[in-house]
Amino acid sequence: MSVKQKVIAIDGPSASGKGTVASRVAAALGFDYLDSGALYRLTALYAQQQHAEWHDEAAVAALAERLPAEFKDGSIWLDGQDVSEAIRTEAIGMGASAVAQLPKVRAALLQRQRDFLGDKGLVGDGRDMGSVVFPEAALKIFLTASAQVRAERRAKQLGLPCEGVAFDRILSDIEARDEADRRRAVAPLQQLPDALLLDTTDLGIEESVKKVLDWYSKV
Ligand code: C5P
Repeated sequence: MSVKQKVIAIDGPSASGKGTVASRVAAALGFDYLDSGALYRLTALYAQQQHAEWHDEAAVAALAERLPAEFKDGSIWLDGQDVSEAIRTEAIGMGASAVAQLPKVRAALLQRQRDFLGDKGLVGDGRDMGSVVFPEAALKIFLTASAQVRAERRAKQLGLPCEGVAFDRILSDIEARDEADRRRAVAPLQQLPDALLLDTTDLGIEESVKKVLDWYSKV
């Protein structure tokens, strides 16, 4: 298998748990891990800090080109500041979804994502890992769960109850982001014909990781 093929591409909607599964699979195999959504989140945050509008394609693409971001020591840095938590807010998630619709921004981030692949192999998670960034991946997975279950997982992460106004808001934010990611013209969220479906609605993290490792052992 060539290094280019030593890639597992995991795509799916927000809050599906793909990040947790992907990073655990990477650790189990000794591969590097790419959280591609973090790059879109970093771009949205950087644009906000630099007072660029999220829909201003030229301005945001120029910022994405020179994004002063680093992934090190288990944290995510922007311009020398630890922004690991700041990029996880729902507002920045929406910003990420907005800047991700701009073709020039996607083009600006493409090589940067490919550069994560070194000799070890890579597990990448996002929306277009299998379709655009690593079309030659050895294994492509579409990881999803029902919107209700994803909202419950997000609520638990935030220490909120799985009912009530705050919960309804989480659910509608998730549905709005899914809709935007699916309907956009460039690199829309989709299950590719050559991707295996991993529905985690009734599956725990350990079982999901095991399933991916099992599939990978057979490619
Ligand atoms: O995965 P995460 O929720 O962190 O991604 C944030 C947003 O970035 C997504 O809603 C999506 O619009 C965008 N994204 C993308 N392509 C990727 C990863 C994320 O368009 N490969």
